[in-house]
Amino acid sequence: MKLLVTGGAGFIGSAFVRRRLAQTADEIVVLDKLTYSGNRANLAEVEANPDLSGRMRFVLGDIADAGLVEPLVAQVDGVVNFAAESHVDRSILDAQAFLHTGVIGVHVLLEAVRSADRPVRFVQVSTDEVYGAMEQGLSTEGDRLAPRSPYAAAKACGELLVNAFRTTHDLDVVMTRGANTYGPYQHPEKLIPLFITNAMDDQQLPLYGDGLQTRDWMFVDDHADGIGFVLDHGLAGEAYNLAAGQLRTNRAVTEAILAGLDKPWELVRRVPDRPGHDRRYAMDGAKVDALGWQPTIAFDDGLRRTLEWYATRSDWWRRLKSGEWDAYYRTQYGTRLADSVSA
Ligand code: NAD
Ligand code: TYD
Repeated sequence: MKLLVTGGAGFIGSAFVRRRLAQTADEIVVLDKLTYSGNRANLAEVEANPDLSGRMRFVLGDIADAGLVEPLVAQVDGVVNFAAESHVDRSILDAQAFLHTGVIGVHVLLEAVRSADRPVRFVQVSTDEVYGAMEQGLSTEGDRLAPRSPYAAAKACGELLVNAFRTTHDLDVVMTRGANTYGPYQHPEKLIPLFITNAMDDQQLPLYGDGLQTRDWMFVDDHADGIGFVLDHGLAGEAYNLAAGQLRTNRAVTEAILAGLDKPWELVRRVPDRPGHDRRYAMDGAKVDALGWQPTIAFDDGLRRTLEWYATRSDWWRRLKSGEWDAYYRTQYGTRLADSVSA
């Protein structure tokens, strides 16, 4: 297949590119705007491997740029859309870019698929956060979308547009709703890499509220492979939960990180909670399981691999914890840490 992978220089997108090139004979065009979270270094392993690099081309640009997107989509068999602003806390500070990429950008991609003169499958990479908080039980694909953060609302808007283009224009679309993902190359703004890298430097770990919020944690290789499976086998018009079945409270995740690094709990600070903080996400993965896909990596194993990677790649994450980072960290955590108490 020839694929256009948008957001392919981000965390999950780059894992998809690395793994898909290694596992198939596909050719991939990566389109990425290289926002603060996009990083050419995430594709360096591909670019350094002569067996893979000849089948990948990088294009710098915005998915909302119709003039750029249309000729790229016209040449491929499939589009896998990872591009998004992906951090809930930043969406609380300013949601503008989330809507630009998650709504306008998705619309531009769909129009390009519609106008292509060959069949193009469109995969929208979405999230369990579109269901909103799931206090108990498991979200299934037929559940109502009830997003509660600006990030999740932008992702739900993207899904609604994709469904509308399926219904109205009969496009070949599929969607994945992935669980919270962790692993190598994740930007240090997110919980697991933030706490790993802060703890390595003996810096405080800002735990929101009581830390008993629950997430389902999926290792990035599983998430990338699940998306590839839905691209290859998903039924047109369907959404698929990609669940990990690895529910942990934030406190339990924090304890596991500190144990893995042999660092004391005293680094953890209880800080004022995130506004509108979803208490729990948990999905039922039976639908994709019935089609033939299951995740393979247990949390303890995935976390061990993640800790090893961050220990050897401080060159990678220290660059991201500088420049733009300092202002973000002050805005997000300055007052919170000043108001913090022991956890
Ligand atoms: P990320 O922030 O690491 O990567 C996003 C990428 O998109 C970056 O490379 C960025 O430069 C690019 N991008 C942003 N706006 C763009 C635009 N307008 N045009 C072109 N490129 C643009 O995010 P991630 O964690 O890899 O998430 C990828 C996708 O997976 C997102 O759609 C996200 O909603 C979804 N998802 C993430 C998780 C998670 O836990 N990280 C879980 C479920 C679903
Ligand atoms: P995050 O990695 O931002 O993912 P999401 O909000 O999309 O689930 O956060 C995971 C959980 O960790 C979430 O419950 C918020 C919490 N959290 C903290 O307690 N402290 C932090 O500094 C961050 C970034 C997150």
